Order: sequence, then structure tokens, then C-alpha cells
Amino acid sequence: MTFPNGFLWGASTAAHQVEGNNVSSDWWLREHGHAPSPSPIESPSGDAADSYHRYPEDMRMLADAGLTSYRFSIEWARIEPEKGCVSLAQLDHYRRMVDTARDLGLTPMVTLHHFTNPAWFAREVGWHSPRAVDLFGRFTETALPVLTDVELVCTINEPNMVAIMANSEERDAFLSGGLPSGHPVVTENLIGAHRVSSSILRSAGKQAGWSVATQAYQAEPGFEGAAAEHGRSREDVFLDAAAGDDWIGIQAYTRTKIGADGPVPIPAGAERTLTGWEYYPGALEFGIRRSWERNGVPVYVTENGIATADDARRIDYTAGALEGVERALADGIDVRGYLHWSALDNYEWGSFRPTFGLIGWDPETFERSPKPSLAWLGGVARRNALR
Ligand code: BGC
Repeated sequence: MTFPNGFLWGASTAAHQVEGNNVSSDWWLREHGHAPSPSPIESPSGDAADSYHRYPEDMRMLADAGLTSYRFSIEWARIEPEKGCVSLAQLDHYRRMVDTARDLGLTPMVTLHHFTNPAWFAREVGWHSPRAVDLFGRFTETALPVLTDVELVCTINEPNMVAIMANSEERDAFLSGGLPSGHPVVTENLIGAHRVSSSILRSAGKQAGWSVATQAYQAEPGFEGAAAEHGRSREDVFLDAAAGDDWIGIQAYTRTKIGADGPVPIPAGAERTLTGWEYYPGALEFGIRRSWERNGVPVYVTENGIATADDARRIDYTAGALEGVERALADGIDVRGYLHWSALDNYEWGSFRPTFGLIGWDPETFERSPKPSLAWLGGVARRNALR
């Protein structure tokens, strides 16, 4: 089958994971021991992939391969490094990124918040405070000049993971394997911030949505109720909050089975990726269907991929995930694009070891090397068909 006309084929990144030297962010402080971290940090982000300077080359590689879209985030900590102090030069920088994407024929999708906060925001406000809602609205307004030629704007990336990470009371559970539930106050503030930001964006003629991390919570027989309960604060409340949005971003990597004691350990023989997650391409179809059933909102796959050193497994995984997208489309689900995670190997929140990229790079020279999976996905994009 072919995908619908105009279906977007792209790849995603996040500023902090590829740009390098995001020194005014809360993550940078954490990486250097100046702020508490919920999980151990193996290495700091440093120069990351130096995509702050090399983005034209990165985007060109995606476009040359045949892709038609690039999702990237703009960094609040660079644009507003101190409260109320806005850097026009940084706004220009991101504006140039949008222009570069357009010049290369890539439809830009811009994320306003991808996990990192300005250090001042984390110190003085934080997502526990209702003041976060207005401050994020104000940042959205500040960012509008970057978005002049952008239609698709993602307000907040994986708000459910932000709420989960904020649930400090349950951090021990996180470290021992299962994800804690979403922090209720943080959840409420994130939803509030999304609403305020979306309405500003919509008034400016943009299509606004947010992207949710789906975990394919699958019930062991007899534990359907437990699985539903488990998914509620970790996922469903965020999918439900998207009702009425222009679109929703679905992000999927693996599944979690739920049994008598909650999450069931991954069986000993199962294939695992470099993040330790079960290799499970079916996660994407599961996430798309769950979202569609709950909110009926058009879907962009904003992240899907695999951390592996074996690029053939990346191709296999992605083909498996796309077969699921084909089935969803055949059932009438409005899926409008597939953006792979990630364009580049990147800083995986504490370590560079899990490599998700379609493009690798030399840690000393930053020289890029496209992997066979980039040409493969570009071929899918050119055909607008998996095979
Ligand atoms: C995030 C990315 C991350 C990826 C793989 C998503 O949770 O949005 O920042 O690198 O998954 O872990």
C-alpha cells in the first residue's frame, strides 16, 4: 500500500540532545553536580553533536536522503537565559533553522519544550507551581517570531514523562525498574500550560499539539483492570487532554506488560535494545490506536526508533513499526506523518551510549556518517510506501 498524499516523512531531534553547550539549562546544572538529578548521570552533554553549528549539514543529509520533514526543539534556556531577558540573537538562530529547513524542502515541526527548562525557571518556579502556566504562555509569545513559517508546533514533549520524573516520592520505584505515576499537580500545570500555549499558537494560525510517550501497557490475562489503572496517570490523562487539539504526537519505543504485581519483568530470552528496553516494533501501532480511541485527534508519529549499534536491527524495527502504521491507516485512523527518533546519535539524558541515530558522528571531529538506515528510510519516503 502507499501512504496518504502529503504524508510527512522525517526525523526528530531535541535541542539539548544535539546542540551542545546548553549552559543556562537545568540539565546542564544537573550534569555538573550543581542540581540534584533523579537518575545517575554517566557523562555531561558537553558539545553533544555540535548541531547548534552544524544543523545545515544535518538537515541537508535528511533532505538529500529523501525525507520531507524535520522536527527540532527550540531552547527556552537560550532564548530566555535569565527571567525576562530575551536574546534576539538566539531567536534569529532558530529562525535561520526554520529558513534552512524550508530552503531544503523540509517541513519544519518545532517543539517549544523538550524536557529542559531554563535554570532560573527550575530554581524559582518549576512545574509544581501554577506560575509555570503563565510563564510558558509568555515564552510561547516570545517564540512566535521563530514560527512565522512554521505550521506544526508541538507545545510540550512527553508531558507524561515530565510528570513522572517530577514524582519524587516514588523515585525509588523508578530506579528499580517501574515508572512512578504522574505527579498530579505537575500534570495539572502541564495541561494548563499546553492549553494556554495552544490557544496563543492557534490565534497565530498554527496547528498546535503535544507529544505523548506511549508505553503499550498490555494486560496479562485477568489483569485488564490493573493495566487500565496503571496507564491512567502515566498516559491516558495526557492523551485525553489532547481532545480538540489540531493533532497529537505519538511516541513509542517498547511495551510494558502488566500482571499481578504491576509491570512484568522482560523475559530472559527477549531481545533488548541498548536502553535495556524490549525490542518490540508493535509498540507504535498500539500507541496510535490507544490515542485514536481516546481522543480521535489526527496523529503524527513524532518519535519512534531503537537504540542499537546494529543498523540492520534499526531497519528491521522501523519496518515492523511502519507495518503497524499501515494497519492503522487501513482501519481509517488519520495518521499524517512518521518522524523517526532520531536524526542523529545524541545525548540520551545522561549518556551517549544508546545510539538512536540515522546519522552517526565522530566524537572528536563531529564529522557526520549517515547510516544505511537513513538511505533506507529516505527510500520509503520517496516511494511513499514501505516496499
Ligand atoms: C524522548 C527523547 C529520548 C527518547 C529515547 C523520548 O522519551 O522524547 O528525548 O531521547 O525518548 O529515550
